[in-house]
Amino acid sequence: MRLVQRTSLRPEARAARDFLAIEGLPLDELRALLARAEELLPVAVGDARGERTLEGRVVANIFFEDSTRTRVSFEIAADRLGAAVVNLGASGSSASKGETLVDTARNIDAMGVDAIVVRTSISGGAALVARHVGCPVINAGDGRHEHPTQALLDALALRLRLGKLDGRRVAIVGDIANSRVARSATHALVALGAHVHIVGPPSLVPVGFAQIASGAGSISITHDLDSIIHDLDAIMMLRIQMERAAASGIAPDYRAAYGLTSARRARLRPEAILLHPGPVNRGLEIDDEVADDPRSSVILAQVSCGVAARMAVLLRAMPS
Ligand code: NCD
Repeated sequence: MRLVQRTSLRPEARAARDFLAIEGLPLDELRALLARAEELLPVAVGDARGERTLEGRVVANIFFEDSTRTRVSFEIAADRLGAAVVNLGASGSSASKGETLVDTARNIDAMGVDAIVVRTSISGGAALVARHVGCPVINAGDGRHEHPTQALLDALALRLRLGKLDGRRVAIVGDIANSRVARSATHALVALGAHVHIVGPPSLVPVGFAQIASGAGSISITHDLDSIIHDLDAIMMLRIQMERAAASGIAPDYRAAYGLTSARRARLRPEAILLHPGPVNRGLEIDDEVADDPRSSVILAQVSCGVAARMAVLLRAMPS
């Protein structure tokens, strides 16, 4: 038997099956993914059984950066759809011997997997992998660049509580500069018509961030959380990215100015909801009792939505 080189996806097929970023994703595709994820939610959380549409397919999770929620929810999403999953981390794989991300991905691709899910500390790393493998590639977070499935789950969790996002006021607070979550969420929310307040200390909010996205919604930047907090429909607190923060670390007065303390939370409208992508630095960006308040916190609902969002993305990557 002669082994043949796997054929790569043609560029048009790649665009329809890779999921690398929210930036540039057509609005109808974003809406279709959200609608599909919402439909799949009962199956995602185990309340209903769905069709095992991806039976016989193999998904490779290449996670070269630590993760709890994202890796496990991709795994559960694939499992609910009947696909098999192989998991590869940086330790326990040849990455620890110096193999590059691209070489690892090409080797996994050569084994005939049907999709690769990649998490890496390299900004742009998912697109880099997609240029070198034949199968579809899904970005599970690449450095400071994007985390597109997180934006889907954020939008879904918001929609379930707020209905339409058109005209809603959502603040994204914290370490904007180092946050792929903030970038992807901003693209998605602006596309869906929300007004996004970007909030953080000047050192953690890139100049020009207000211009990164365009759509029916808008973006404004403020360094003063207390000046806008009373007016929000939702507030998304970001984790301080200790692993990406400059050596100078985080200012000691960060919590006083930007933390969602119990006192500050009292200034939110009673119906406003609270999001956080996890993992939470309790007592830094958010107080315990605020994070755990079932009336306003949708942090765990976001995690449930994550399984549904990833199911929708896997189905798009591997159409029947
Ligand atoms: C985020 C990530 O890794 O980008 N976590 C996640 O995927 N839920 C956010 C973070 O690490 O702060």
